[in-house]
This record gives sequence, C-alpha cells and structure tokens, in this order.
Amino acid sequence: MTARSKANAHAPGFAYVQKTGSRSRGTPELTLYCDEVDLSQLAKRYGTPLYVYSATMIRERLASFQSAFRGVPHTICYSVKANSNLNILRLLAKSGCGFDVVSGGELDRVLAADRRSAARVVFSGVGKTRDEITAALKAKILLFNVESESELQVLAECAARLRSVARVALRVNPDVAADTHPYISTGLHAHKFGVPIGEARRLYAKVAEATHLKAAGVSVHIGSQITDVAPFAETMTRVAELVRELRNDGHAIDYVDAGGGLGISYQKTLSADASSQIDFSEQVAAYARAIIAPLRGLNVHLLLEPGRSIVGAAGALITSVIYRKANGGKRFVIVDAAMNDLIRPALYGAYHEIIPLKRPRVIETQASRTEAPRETVDVVGPVCETGDFFARDRALPPVKEGDLLAILDAGAYGMVLSSNYNTRPRPAEILVSGKSAKVIRRRDKVADLMRAER
Ligand code: LLP
Repeated sequence: MTARSKANAHAPGFAYVQKTGSRSRGTPELTLYCDEVDLSQLAKRYGTPLYVYSATMIRERLASFQSAFRGVPHTICYSVKANSNLNILRLLAKSGCGFDVVSGGELDRVLAADRRSAARVVFSGVGKTRDEITAALKAKILLFNVESESELQVLAECAARLRSVARVALRVNPDVAADTHPYISTGLHAHKFGVPIGEARRLYAKVAEATHLKAAGVSVHIGSQITDVAPFAETMTRVAELVRELRNDGHAIDYVDAGGGLGISYQKTLSADASSQIDFSEQVAAYARAIIAPLRGLNVHLLLEPGRSIVGAAGALITSVIYRKANGGKRFVIVDAAMNDLIRPALYGAYHEIIPLKRPRVIETQASRTEAPRETVDVVGPVCETGDFFARDRALPPVKEGDLLAILDAGAYGMVLSSNYNTRPRPAEILVSGKSAKVIRRRDKVADLMRAER
C-alpha cells in the first residue's frame, strides 16, 4: 500500500506517492501516480511517449459542473474537440453528458460512443458542409448553432430535402473581449465566429419564415482558456437582453448555449492532496454564478460546452529523456515526445508543467527545508524545427538520460492536435480509473501512416 492511498485514497489525477516499502536508507523517493497507478510501470509496459488520463478526475470535473449548475435546467455538452477518444466520450455519456461537435467526424464519434446521445448534441462551426448538416439532421441532434446567413439558407434546404425541421440557435458574436491568446479568442467582431449581435433579430425573422427551420435558442462562445469570469457575465447580460427582444418578437427561445471557454491553471498544478479539486469546484461555482445571474427570470434551458476544464488537468504526456547536450552555455534535454504529439507550446507558446516521474522527497522540518537542486534547461523534442520545444529556460530538477518526465495538463488539445509530422507514430493513450489502466488507443505503427498512400 502506498503512502497516498493510505492517507488519501480518493485523490484523483496525478500525485506523488511515497511507497511505504521504499528503503529508509538515503533520501526517500517519491513516484508519480495517476489515480492508483504507478506511471513508471505504465511507461515500462506501454513505452513512451504515452498519454495517460484519469477517468476519476474527468468524472469529478463533470460532477463539479453538474453540481454548480444544479439550480437551473441545464445540459453539459462536452466539447468533443478537446479530447475525442471514444472511451472518454463513452464515460462522459454514461455520466449524462451531451456533446458539442464541430464536424461530421466528431458527430460520428459521438454516435459510435453512444447513439442515444444524439438528442443531446449541439453542432457548432462556421463551415458546416451540406453532407455534415444532412448527417446531423438524420441523427436528430438537439440544436444547430448557426454562424451565418448563408448557413441558414443551406440548413433550410437540407432540412426541406429530408422533410424535417432543424432547431436553430444563432451563434451571436457579442463583441466582448476576453483576456486569452489571440488564436483562441472568438467573441469580437474582428473574429470569423457568429453573427453580429445587432443583426440577430433580422436573422431570427428569416428563421421564422422558413418552414423547415425553428428558432429554439441563442448561442455564444467568446473564446477558450478564459480564467476571469467577468467577460462571461458581460456576454450573458447581452444574450439575456437579446432573448427578451426575440421573445417580444414572438420567437420561442427555449435554450441559451453559453459555449465553453473556462480556463484552467497550467502552473504549479500538481498537488499531493485533493485541494485542486476543491479549487476547481469553487472556480466552476464562480463561473456558474457569472453565467446564471444575468439569465435569472428568463426560464431558459442552459447549455454549456466545456472542453478543457473537464479533461485538461486529467491528462499527462509521459516522455523519456533520450539525450542531454549543451550548445555553448545552453543545456538541452532531448525527450522522445515532440511538437507533433503536443503542439500547444509551439503553437501558442503555452506553458506546461514538466516534472520527473521519480524524485527525492524534499525533507521539510520546522528547522530546515532542503531545497531540491535545479538546473536551467530547454526541454525539446526530436523534430527538425526550432519550434519543437516543451519548455525554454526552465528550472527543473537535474535529469539524466533514460529518466521519465510528465508533461502535465495535456488532457485537452493534446492528442487531438497531434500529427504524424516527421513520420512519427502518435502515442498510445491509457485511461486509468482507480487501480485499473486500459489502452484506449494503441500506438500508431509506421505501417498505419502509409496505409492510405498509393
Ligand atoms: N464551444 C466552441 C464553439 C468552441 O469553439 C470551443 C473551443 C469550445 C466550446 C470549448 O472550449 P474550452 O472549454 O475547451 O475552452 N487548441 C486551443 C484551444 C482551442 C479552442 C477552440 N474552441 C488550445 O490548445 O488552447
């Protein structure tokens, strides 16, 4: 039995554990676990780079959302783009989750995971094709989040052809700025998303005229990795005003889709106890208050599309140190994961915590605190691009060739954004739940990568 499982058997996700069996001679060693599973054992068994997710943490985070919004009618529509592995979709569907999809492919994944979820699917995106729209109509999804007048026209045609009626929520662009990376901010008029909120009434009038369309809601999404709840509140205030106007105009607006975007902390995210979960519950509760307050009295069914906040902290990318080298004064740690496996640092300059799977326990007494030694390094992958880095000038505990590292908070926008650049097979994915670990995607083989080629 491990120290952690004794002290805190239910801490979900990633935490260091001191095995009680580990020798008392010398400095005691801590080992990184995911739930009740030793990550070094997983790395040994399945190889690296390796994505590992905690099912327990995913369930808890979904439960935090459900609890924060329990006072109002709502459906959590997990944003599939954050992590679309079938097993993760299945576990969310089992917990009563709906889904936000942005392509026919994502819809197919949801249907493959749980066909009955279709009734809880919303379809967003600026470029839905006729084929995608037709597939979604046939699946009888809940709502189309329509992003332009042209799309409205195509949706009406597709629905007419199938003699069905499409439930529509126009995605309005509220012109609210959110403090996030410019690539993932979406709520300003300068962005390609949604229709200007000022044009909404004219477009809803068009919906009302179309036999095969039915206005059912209003949707909005202002961006991703937003940690301040004020822009959400401001957005919902504008949306609430629009809902009142639209109802006055005679439209039956039953749904408000508030989108996703709640950010997570990417720094110092590892904690050996359950406090991160408590912090998360509080964060979601604050977010819920910001969203719900402006909608009070409207009696709408709220839809939420969280992605990152459900799966981000629940995943890590495990990698091995292949080489160490120094160029001039700079020290490099070359690992076997690369930008093709996790592109967030290269694409957004994103920060991810990197920690060793094994480290000596820092002895802390009232009299003294032994600081672990650190060295400043760049952690880089084998891909032939200078942008292929996970950390620059990062103070890390000294690592040797062969050591294992965990790149944390990689559960969202990690594997889904991976590629086979440099003909690198993508990592395997493991889902841990308590003591059990299962392969939910096997590692690519190079033959897989060549299969579609002639
Ligand atoms: N709904 C819509 C319409 C979205 O466009 C997105 C994300 C979400 C929901 C989910 O947002 P979340 O709760 O995960 O923030 N690759 C970037 C993030 C791109 C987000 C795109 N849209 C990253 O790695 O940071």
